[in-house]
Amino acid sequence: MSLATEETQERRSTSTATLFPQEPADGALFRKNFDRQPFLFRHLLDRHPAFQLPALLRAAERLSANPATAGKSHFESGTPDRNAWFGDRPAGTTLVDALESIESGKNWVILKRIHEDPTYRDVLHDIIPELSALAAVDIADVYYDPTMTIFITSPGRITPYHMDGETNFLAQIHGTKQVYIYDGNDKGVLSDEDLERYWTGKLPKIDYPESMPHGQWQYTLEPGNGVFNPAIFPHWLQNGADVSVSVSMNFKRKRNAVIGAARTNRYLRMAGIKPKAPGASPALDRAKEATFGRLYDAAYAAAAKLKGK
Ligand SMILES: [Fe+2]
Repeated sequence: MSLATEETQERRSTSTATLFPQEPADGALFRKNFDRQPFLFRHLLDRHPAFQLPALLRAAERLSANPATAGKSHFESGTPDRNAWFGDRPAGTTLVDALESIESGKNWVILKRIHEDPTYRDVLHDIIPELSALAAVDIADVYYDPTMTIFITSPGRITPYHMDGETNFLAQIHGTKQVYIYDGNDKGVLSDEDLERYWTGKLPKIDYPESMPHGQWQYTLEPGNGVFNPAIFPHWLQNGADVSVSVSMNFKRKRNAVIGAARTNRYLRMAGIKPKAPGASPALDRAKEATFGRLYDAAYAAAAKLKGK
């Protein structure tokens, strides 16, 4: 079969497949937990041709060859502890090299924003209404920048403790993976100051809570299941004995009073004022978001424009 024919099949299959079971119990699970706390869900993405390793290798080649996407993906090699941090790209190795040695190496490969490739853009386009139906939330309306990212990692490899600002569905495609998730609303896990620094871009690495090595939620991911990870809920992961492939579908929330309040509070605190924590007064959070929060967004957008982002 030619590469062009295989690629056509990868794309065509997206328009007919139902990617997430829609039984009443699935919908009840999503509606009860979505954007509140982690939960395990079912999916059929592991059967999709676009997510098989040969197709992902071809996608990595396309992403590397396209000037618009080259350099966005990341790869590294090593044996980090759960309390370590992400490493640098090894010199003299390409993304495709890292994928080709994934089985024997200690590699961590992330095909970032793979939906900028047409095959995966189509899959993500099909996924959003299915997730929206399950959660009874119009995800395309409430969130922006829907993103698909693929993680391909070597046997036994650890993904260190970190958190993300996006709401995230992580679906397992190949191999197994242990996921440990921490409650981002627990002040023993994340303090108000941590969140203020995170939302103002001043918290690259969060402190790992040594007294709680396995978090508040523990899951075993295997092909056909996945975990919902709410925004700012920290986590770390460890692969089983095989290569792991996981698909992340993540979404940024549109205007959010809690984020606007956290940003405002960082500068109030720097001015010597002890601010009221986000959530304590929703009206005050909204006022902070509508004033300083919007100023912050405008300043950030102007700075990004100056940097040519
Ligand atoms: Fe993450």
